[in-house]
This record gives sequence, structure tokens and C-alpha cells, in this order.
Amino acid sequence: MGSWREANSLLPVHFAPANLLFMESLDGHQPPRPVSESVSEMAEVVLPNDANPLNNLLGGRLMHFIDIAGAMAAHRHSRSYVVTASMDHIDFLAPVHVGDLLILRSSVNRAFRTSMEVGVKCWVENYIAGTRRHIASAYLTFVAVDSRGRRVPVPAVVPETEEEKQRYEDAGRRRELRKQEQERKRANQLARG
Ligand SMILES: CC(C)(COP(=O)(O)OP(=O)(O)OC[C@H]1O[C@@H](n2cnc3c(N)ncnc32)[C@H](O)[C@@H]1OP(=O)(O)O)[C@@H](O)C(=O)NCCC(=O)NCCS
Repeated sequence: MGSWREANSLLPVHFAPANLLFMESLDGHQPPRPVSESVSEMAEVVLPNDANPLNNLLGGRLMHFIDIAGAMAAHRHSRSYVVTASMDHIDFLAPVHVGDLLILRSSVNRAFRTSMEVGVKCWVENYIAGTRRHIASAYLTFVAVDSRGRRVPVPAVVPETEEEKQRYEDAGRRRELRKQEQERKRANQLARG
């Protein structure tokens, strides 16, 4: 088997040097984990390089930050490498300006067999007034993989608070909708030949 570095260079996985410390889930029988273990927060000051000519944060750049913040929660829950399988519909509720402090908070809503739905909520923080304004939210699905890119089982999520229980239920419904949409696309492709 090659080194960690070689293996990583072959994979479209989220990783950072610290990820080398993550343990691979070799037995596939990890105990259930509370949502609180995956909660992650990321802060970014919006720089000119992230912005359009109007000095507003580019939508694609925000999606990149959302992907990274979501991956953090998925890594923490699964204690493995992850790949992004999908990002659901996203609304950009308000512009974010150069110099703004962007806060992204993520957690795993529910885990299935090898996949996890992660919710990411984004705010702009006014550090002078000490207030936060919600600017976007998204749901992403990550799939846990080992260092060779093979899918690995993920532990179940234990929702504890009322909010977490609601998100858990909603995540199940969204998974069904995603599956139906995938089936619909497959049928369309077959019909087109
Ligand atoms: C995501 C990926 C691993 C799924 O592989 P696959 O062969 O389609 O696997 P399966 O159909 O067996 O699905 C595996 C799991 O992923 C989930 N999944 C697959 N496609 C999905 C999608 N579009 N949205 C949400 N979940 C999805 C399945 O529901 C299943 O979950 P479960 O094990 O919890 O039941 C594969 O498509 C892949 O590697 N994609 C590229 C990932 C990547 O490079 N991401 C970065 C983009 S730049």
C-alpha cells in the first residue's frame, strides 16, 4: 500500500494536513455519535479576491466556504475522509461585502449507511454592534471513504435537542426526495437513449 501522501494525491477528497491524523474507520462499527460532536464553526474575512466588481462576495466563493465548513462536520462525525456527493438548493439571502466577517456553522443532521446530510448556516457578523445576519443556508451530502476512496459505513447520529430531532426527521424526508429526483433523472436518460 502506498503512503498517505500518495493515496491522498489520487483522491478527490477534502483534506488538510491535520486530516492525516484522522483515523480510518476500518471495522465499520463505530458507536453512534451525538450531533454536538460534529458541530463546527469557521470564520472568514471577505477579501477583494473573493469579490465581484461591486465588492460583493462571489456566490461560487461562498459555496466553496460552505463545502469546506460542511466537510469539517462530516469528518468529525465519521472520523474518516469524505467526498461531497451533492449540495442542495441554495438561496443567497443578502449580499456580503469585502471586509465583512463571514461565519459558517455546520453539523451532521443525519447519517445513513455511508452518507451523511450536513446542514451549513452562514451569517455575516457585525463585530462593532455584536450582531449577526443570516445570509445563506445549505444542505450537503458527504460520503465517507477510506484512503483508497472506497466507501465506508458511518456511525448513526443521536439527535438530542428538539431542534436536532426536527433536523433529523427533515433529513430523512429530504433523502427520499433526492432519491426520487435521481430516479427521475435516470428514467429520463434511459428514455433519451
Ligand atoms: C458520491 C459518490 C461516492 C457516490 O458513489 P456511487 O457509486 O454513486 O454510490 P452509491 O450509489 O452506492 O451511493 C453511495 C451513497 O451515496 C449517496 N449518494 C450518491 N449520490 C448522491 C447524491 N447525488 N446526493 C446525495 N447522496 C448521494 C447514496 O444515497 C448512498 O448513501 P448511503 O450509503 O448512505 O445509502 C460518487 O458519485 C463520487 O465519488 N462522486 C464524486 C465525488 C467528488 O469528487 N466530489 C467532489 C466534487 S468536485
